[in-house]
Formats: sequence, structure tokens, C-alpha cells
Amino acid sequence: MTVLKTEQLTKQFGGLTAVDEVDLEIEQGEGVSLIGPNGAGKSTFINLVTRRLEPSYGEIAFQGDSIIGMDPHEVVQRGMSKSFQTASIFPELTVKENATIAALAAEHGSFRFNFFRNQNSYPAVDELANEVLESVGLYDEREDQADSLDYGNKRRLELGIALAAEPDMLLMDEPTAGMSPDETKSTVDLIKRVKDELDLTFLLVEHDMEIVFDISDRIVVLNRGSVIAEGTPTEVQNDPAVQEAYLGGVEE
Ligand SMILES: Nc1ncnc2c1ncn2[C@@H]1O[C@H](COP(=O)(O)OP(=O)(O)O)[C@@H](O)[C@H]1O
Ligand SMILES: [Mg+2]
Repeated sequence: MTVLKTEQLTKQFGGLTAVDEVDLEIEQGEGVSLIGPNGAGKSTFINLVTRRLEPSYGEIAFQGDSIIGMDPHEVVQRGMSKSFQTASIFPELTVKENATIAALAAEHGSFRFNFFRNQNSYPAVDELANEVLESVGLYDEREDQADSLDYGNKRRLELGIALAAEPDMLLMDEPTAGMSPDETKSTVDLIKRVKDELDLTFLLVEHDMEIVFDISDRIVVLNRGSVIAEGTPTEVQNDPAVQEAYLGGVEE
């Protein structure tokens, strides 16, 4: 099943075409990375898909329905979640309360509750919150105040909050930006584990090639707003157009 499909998706800023007629499809359970030199249009593409930016033209379908014209929160309620935004954490609440609120908000907002389809009850929410905290490795910290977590654990909680909404697709824009090598490794391991455990579908923007090759089923390469290559990590690595774009362009 196709989760996300863009057709001719385009965003112009004045005379600059930041995203140029991009056709992209992501299948259920697929982990796709969007790479490209600085300024290639990656963040703009993510902002179009999450409805934070209005396209100049083109189509975006999520789960088979056009989302053009929808508010960003409507798209979230349909199952598209963006992770690694510190703003999603309530610092004064506990880790467990943060996960619970995220699970409740998703259930209340859309009446979809995949894990426990027949029970719109608090025990189900509680169980989901616990499961999510186990997935992201924060179960033992569940009674801690969110504010007291270190940087790496805060990122884990952000991912947990996104997962508690049981997203059908998770978007991540440079999740390891600003992390130490250790934190980066643990975040990458976490994303891989969650992908396997939950059969997560994701679209990742990441400039670290080692991470991208490690984590992706498929890689899409943007350059000056256009897709210049697409394929498995090995295919993309060996693609002359990609080597040209990276050697000839400015690397991030
Ligand atoms: N709000 C905006 N207004 C004008 N130009 C923008 C805006 N956002 C991005 N751009 C331009 O669009 C191009 C793509 O930017 P961006 O999507 O942030 O690239 P990337 O995330 O791949 O580094 C860049 O040239 C950038 O300067
Ligand atoms: Mg960017």
C-alpha cells in the first residue's frame, strides 16, 4: 500500500524553485531517506508534505487521499507525525505523563487506535504509553520529570511522543543535528529498532551519509529541487549523478 505519493510537487519562492516537480512514493513499512546538498530543497519538501507550506502546484496524497487544503493538525490526525521537535515535550510533566497525553490526544482527535481497536479506555492508553516507553528505552525513567532528562533522553522522549500517536508515517528532519557521536549512534540504533518492532514507515532527512546508508531501504537524492537519483543505498552510492552533485556542489 502506498502511504505517501507526491506528483509534480513544486514550491517556488519568488524566482527560486526550491522543490521542482517532485514525484515520490513511499510504501507501507518503507524507510526512505531524502538526501542532497545544502539548499537542495529537503526541508521545503518536508514542510510541503506536513502542510506547513502551501505548494505552488502539484499533488500530495496521504493514505490515498489528497491532503492539499488541509490544516497541518488534520494531517497529523490522519497519521502523519513529525518527530524530534523539543516543543512536543511538556517539561514539567513526567516522562510517562508525556507519553500518555500523546496517546490520548491521538485517540481523542481521530478515534483511531490501532493497537487496541475495541477499547477506547484509559487502560489501553496506559498500556500503549508503557509500550512506547519500552520501545524508546525510557521505561525505567517513566516517573522522572521530563525536564530532568539529559539531551539524548529528551530526543528519545520526542520520538516516544511521536510514536504514541501511532503514526502511519514518521517524518524526521535531521534528527541527529547537534548530537554527539554517542548520542547519534544511540538515536540511529533507536530508529532502526523501532522501525523493525513497529514496521514503521518513515521519511528521513539526514546529511550524515553513514547514517543514511545504514538506516534506509531506499534513498532519494535531491539537487536544486529535482530528484536526480533514487534507489537502494548501494545503487545511490554508485550513481555518477550523485557523486557529481556531491563533489561538484557544496556538501553539508
Ligand atoms: N521561506 C523561504 N523563503 C525563501 N527561500 C527559501 C525559504 N525556505 C527555503 N528557501 C530556499 O529554498 C532552497 C531550499 O531550501 P531548503 O529546503 O531549506 O534546503 P535543504 O533543507 O535541502 O538544505 C534554498 O535555496 C533556500 O534558501
Ligand atoms: Mg534542511
